[in-house]
Amino acid sequence: MTSSPLPYRVGYGEDAHRLALPQDGGRPLVLGGVGVPSERGAVAHSDGDAALHALADALLSGLALGDIGQYFPDTAAEWRGMDSRVILERALGLVRERGYAPLNVALVVTLDRPKLGPLRAEIARSVAALLALPEGEVGVSFKTSEGLAPDHVQTRVTVLLGLREPGRGDD
Ligand code: C5P
Ligand code: MG
Repeated sequence: MTSSPLPYRVGYGEDAHRLALPQDGGRPLVLGGVGVPSERGAVAHSDGDAALHALADALLSGLALGDIGQYFPDTAAEWRGMDSRVILERALGLVRERGYAPLNVALVVTLDRPKLGPLRAEIARSVAALLALPEGEVGVSFKTSEGLAPDHVQTRVTVLLGLREPGRGDD
């Protein structure tokens, strides 16, 4: 258990990846664990899921546990191409070890193309399932950059963490 007396804690995280065609190193685009049909995908050491990276950082930041780079260095060969759900699971485990659990999430993806609206429910469901939350506790919004960052995908996430019952900090 953390020594913090706060019953609730707020976490915030963000992540961005450059977009490229497959022949230029772009991976298939994945956001929140959902495959997104897109000509271009993230250039990344892992699978490049900017939504799950931002979410994992948000979980860690809520408890002042640093950021995912400390746990998953992007130079380590073993993490190359890794499924970002593994990164999220690790961050969630650290949060749970300290007696907290995520209560709700607000996630914003900034991407000029493609339109993500048709995938909103699927992304919310996927993120909710990964956090063991009801779907309605995961808000998912999309923005374009208005052409200011057409070659990037950016995600920003806030999360509310709540202290669980005393003695539940070990599972
Ligand atoms: O960025 P902007 O306000 O112009 O976006 C208009 C709307 O387009 C957003 O409110 C969102 O519903 C949708 N959108 C989307 N997919 C994106 C970017 C925006 O569905 N990649
Ligand atoms: Mg990333």
